Amino acid sequence: MLAGKRVLVIIGGGIAAFKSLDLIRRLRERGATVTPVLTRAAEEFVTPLSTSALAGRKVYRDLFDLTDEAEMGHIELSRDADLLVVAPCTADLMAKMAGGHANDLASTVLLATDKRVLIAPAMNMRMWQHPATQRNLATLGGDGVLVVGPNEGDMACGEHGPGRMAEPLEIVAGVEAALMDGPLKGRHVLVTSGPTHEPIDPVRFIANRSSGTQGTAVARVLSALGARVTFVTGPASVAPPGGVEVVRVETARQMLAAVQAALPADAAVFAAAVADWRMAEDQPSKMKKDGSGKVPVLEFAENPDILATVSRMGEGRPGLVVGFAAETDEVIAHATAKRARKGCDWIVANDVSPETGIMGGSENAVTLISADGAEDWPRMGKDRVAARLAARIAKALT
Ligand code: CTP
Repeated sequence: MLAGKRVLVIIGGGIAAFKSLDLIRRLRERGATVTPVLTRAAEEFVTPLSTSALAGRKVYRDLFDLTDEAEMGHIELSRDADLLVVAPCTADLMAKMAGGHANDLASTVLLATDKRVLIAPAMNMRMWQHPATQRNLATLGGDGVLVVGPNEGDMACGEHGPGRMAEPLEIVAGVEAALMDGPLKGRHVLVTSGPTHEPIDPVRFIANRSSGTQGTAVARVLSALGARVTFVTGPASVAPPGGVEVVRVETARQMLAAVQAALPADAAVFAAAVADWRMAEDQPSKMKKDGSGKVPVLEFAENPDILATVSRMGEGRPGLVVGFAAETDEVIAHATAKRARKGCDWIVANDVSPETGIMGGSENAVTLISADGAEDWPRMGKDRVAARLAARIAKALT
């Protein structure tokens, strides 16, 4: 529920703008006060009158409106909310935000705010997939902007793919997660997830079968319990959850740097399947066959152990450090030894032998290993494992 919460909704100029009227309605139904801001382009799709009628409040449109400035200046507008939501967030608005532009009311408010910002991108799929948009997305994730969607599906332009704005209720869920007063409110939790990719040369890489499902589920539930979650993810095949700060990385060394930059945290959950090795030397050019039939022998160097580094960092160590252990045999013995070796508080051990179907699958059968011993959990969906683990974390932190 959003009773007493103040949400500033910036409507960008896209065909999905009509759905934002429903978003305003849904937010108000849940008790939120909604202040709408329309960009010039948005007015091509929805009218100020209908927006204001649904919000039950004045619509802000112009940076240099003298009446507005006298009543509430744009700086005050940017701060007089608990959360800023940009829906639809067009490619242009994303670019403005990533570049720090402030040439209209919406972009100025977004640059001046000291509150969290949640965006619901919507655009043609080619625009979404364009490297410039993906670069902007990564920049915004690093700035702590929360992202919901976009979804895949048929688009107004006749194409099919990623780019449809998330549905109003999905955006509401992101807003609720961002504003929720759960048991972890005020706590910062770091979660790593997904595989890492270690380049062999510019076109090849070493990877593993992790899909990122378990780490994503853990981050989603922690966020739903009210935590501020920094989600450091390798190239996973599942989308990151809405309402968390996403930091995308590729290699183990980048993941370590991102984790260190995200500290301090009250707790850290290391669910990523980090590659243990990388190439000993960087290979700037593609490795070529020389026609002799001779095959290359790759020389590896060991990657930093992120979990062990954070567990043993002394000052600034999160109060609770949770690792995962992917084992194929003697699961409990190996995981217990791993907990001691790495110095973490808990290890969530799982059997990733191919016959279990756990790695890359939707279910998990885990054993939680702590100073109190080993506790077997029955096989269940990764979402339920995440819920149980997050509840334990909440109990340990409160
Ligand atoms: N981990 C990490 N950094 C690494 C390797 C692993 O942070 N370079 C973390 C994982 O996120 C996980 C835990 O360490 O939480 C255990 O990962 P796992 O792959 O099971 O263990 P390894 O360290 O690879 O040990 P081993 O090779 O003995 O299985």
